[in-house]
Amino acid sequence: MVVPDATHQRPDASHQRRLAVITGAFGGIGGELAKQFAAHDFDLIVAADHPGIHDASRDLATHGVRVQAVQVDLAEPSGVEALWGQILAAHRPVDAAAINAGLAVYDLFATENDLDAEIRLINRTVLASVYLARLLLPPMVQRGAGRILITSVAAMPPGPYAAVYSASTAFLNSFVEAVRSELKGTGVTVTALVPDATDAPLFDKAVVARQGFEALIAGTDHAAKGSTRDSLEDVTVRLPMPPAAPSGEGTTRERHLAAGTRTRARALGHWIHRRWWSR
Ligand SMILES: NC(=O)c1ccc[n+]([C@@H]2O[C@H](COP(=O)([O-])OP(=O)(O)OC[C@H]3O[C@@H](n4cnc5c(N)ncnc54)[C@H](OP(=O)(O)O)[C@@H]3O)[C@@H](O)[C@H]2O)c1
Repeated sequence: MVVPDATHQRPDASHQRRLAVITGAFGGIGGELAKQFAAHDFDLIVAADHPGIHDASRDLATHGVRVQAVQVDLAEPSGVEALWGQILAAHRPVDAAAINAGLAVYDLFATENDLDAEIRLINRTVLASVYLARLLLPPMVQRGAGRILITSVAAMPPGPYAAVYSASTAFLNSFVEAVRSELKGTGVTVTALVPDATDAPLFDKAVVARQGFEALIAGTDHAAKGSTRDSLEDVTVRLPMPPAAPSGEGTTRERHLAAGTRTRARALGHWIHRRWWSR
């Protein structure tokens, strides 16, 4: 592990624009977050595991900002260290970071799970977030300024068929809350971006990213439960839902489809409610 040291970052005064680091910036919420930062005149360091991150960086540069792409596997500590090496090589303070790389793994933990995939998930979600935050924070605290956004998931109960994923996001929610509290008065804030599942028809990753960006800049504690859930939750619970597949029945895929149907039904309820109240 790299030992973080605030003195590692020597500011280069020739850069006028602020610098943001975004992980998981190849598409998805991270790609939309990167667009938000670029549109608000941040230079960017964008990271993902996919080689397409280089093309993505060229698109982002059309906003007239400097963009550096770093292709790294953040499920490995060496990937976090490689990204940190590129950040140090920029010789600029990091003003904001969106720690967003992550993918869910769905399976039946006891009998179907691919343990390697689950361990990679924990590394990508928990290890990479903790490690990167620990590297980024000391220089921010020393400068008395900085913003970190960590993408997790809206507070959820333990999630059958995604036991490890759900537990890892619960870790992140707890981690953000505790570190945020420790940072009070330092000028540095940590914000949780906690969207709902994107298979809801009204989920818009661009909207979630905008909400996340605004919350990050404002330094608020969390943002973006999703496109509609925030104001509508209490009504939609009264709508009829398709039953969840009983545990043990059907394949994992069938159970996921049933869960997806419930999510879509819930989102439809949100939409109906929103239309009703906006009349
Ligand atoms: N989509 C949802 O329903 C939803 C809901 C709530 C929360 N979230 C959270 O939001 C975050 C982004 O989700 P998304 O839906 O935008 O996912 P996505 O579209 O699949 O994007 C995930 C990003 O993470 C990167 N990534 C994955 N594994 C990586 C690794 N080992 N090293 C480096 N980069 C890696 C991917 O790049 P590569 O392609 O290069 O791997 C990609 O850029 C995740 O943390 C997810 O848990 C998503």
